[in-house]
Amino acid sequence: MTSSSEDLDAQPLLAVEDLAKRYGRHMGCEAVSFRLWPGEVLGVVGESGSGKTTLLNCVAGRLTPDAGRVLYSDRLGAVRDLHGIAEPERRMLMRTDWAFVHQNPRDGLRMGVSAGANVGEPLMAVGARNYGAIRSAAGDWLAKTEIDVGRIDDPPRTFSGGMQQRLQIARSLAAGPRLVFMDEPTGGLDVSVQARLLDLLRGLVTELKLAVIVVTHDLAVARLLSHRLLVMRGGRVVETGLTDQVLDDPQHPYTQLLVSSVLQP
Ligand SMILES: Nc1ncnc2c1ncn2[C@@H]1O[C@H](COP(=O)(O)OP(=O)(O)O)[C@@H](O)[C@H]1O
Ligand SMILES: [Mg+2]
Repeated sequence: MTSSSEDLDAQPLLAVEDLAKRYGRHMGCEAVSFRLWPGEVLGVVGESGSGKTTLLNCVAGRLTPDAGRVLYSDRLGAVRDLHGIAEPERRMLMRTDWAFVHQNPRDGLRMGVSAGANVGEPLMAVGARNYGAIRSAAGDWLAKTEIDVGRIDDPPRTFSGGMQQRLQIARSLAAGPRLVFMDEPTGGLDVSVQARLLDLLRGLVTELKLAVIVVTHDLAVARLLSHRLLVMRGGRVVETGLTDQVLDDPQHPYTQLLVSSVLQP
């Protein structure tokens, strides 16, 4: 994406300050700081093992960092320190304001219940009670994510990988999150299926004006989805900038290698 919806007057949705996470003596990520603005799609790129998933999980509240802060500006404009607030409050934010799309749809779906229930559950979690309305909203989301509405009562284990991933996206977006985290959302799919899914994601993100942090080792995915990029190496951010600038005119030697495909991600 080339156009950035960054609004310089607005408060950042997210301010990440000096974040660090270690696994024992092994570094996951270190000294990571960035801001995310409403409606902005931030891509996090780098080789396998560069710390992308660690960073994403710390920012999304799924891992506790060893140092640093994640400040989130809520719907009322109040700033919440994600790892400073109480667990129930954090869980509530994760349910009402945020969504997470996993690389493997099985990690984000309930495989044994119907597709409709998978989409309906997050609606119920934010207070929807009317069965007919929930079912109809679930049907709308299936249509929006290009899943045959006739399969609303089928469980996702009967779906193809690409359809499961679309269903995971429907489930993650149904409750109207303000911020969506994605870890290699097209990673497990065939190339032909990837392209369609990417188109779909791009359309939804634009239509819903979502703020997104998308982790990918695939620079083509990063280019298609992101307004801005963070390039990670060895747990640290080595370069950041507008997507086209970073990919067309990389400044850091590591980014230059990454872009020239000398490094196999
Ligand atoms: N649960 C874990 N225990 C120990 N080391 C881990 C764990 N998860 C990740 N790491 C290490 O942290 C570094 C960053 O990993 P990760 O965040 O998964 O990178 P990426 O998503 O870019 O592939 C790697 O060196 C990896 O081996
Ligand atoms: Mg990863």
